[in-house]
Amino acid sequence: MLYSEKVMDHFKNPRNVGEIENASGVGEVGNAKCGDIMKVFLDIDGDTIKDVKFQTFGCGSAIASSSMATELIKGKSIKEAMELTNKAVAEALDGLPPVKMHCSVLAEQAIKAALVDYSKKNNIEIEGLDDFDFDTEHLHDEVHGEE
Ligand code: FES
Repeated sequence: MLYSEKVMDHFKNPRNVGEIENASGVGEVGNAKCGDIMKVFLDIDGDTIKDVKFQTFGCGSAIASSSMATELIKGKSIKEAMELTNKAVAEALDGLPPVKMHCSVLAEQAIKAALVDYSKKNNIEIEGLDDFDFDTEHLHDEVHGEE
């Protein structure tokens, strides 16, 4: 089968779907080519990501990736969330087909975008975020760079 059991499980029973009212940080990113959109809500207390929810208007791999990515950062520190890569998300899902790797990039980017929002709202610096670029062209390259 093209998709691992874990991908199918997270696609059929996605974890952490929804939104958080008065979230500490909200990030939305889109993929210019496929038109899929991902939105991530973070509830941050001190340095801990107490809760995380997502909404994805996207393909099955994007849903599975967001579900897994939110599971991986829930209860973790901001630094740990910053270290989450799309490859780690894909590995935790027991792999994604190469043409679907960009869907996991969207999950990583949405989390970073939510952290940018949080850092701006609270006027704090998060290491590693200064080179995060909201430019859609940049995102587009990132998303399609591995295809
Ligand atoms: Fe667009 Fe998967 S095809 S995110």
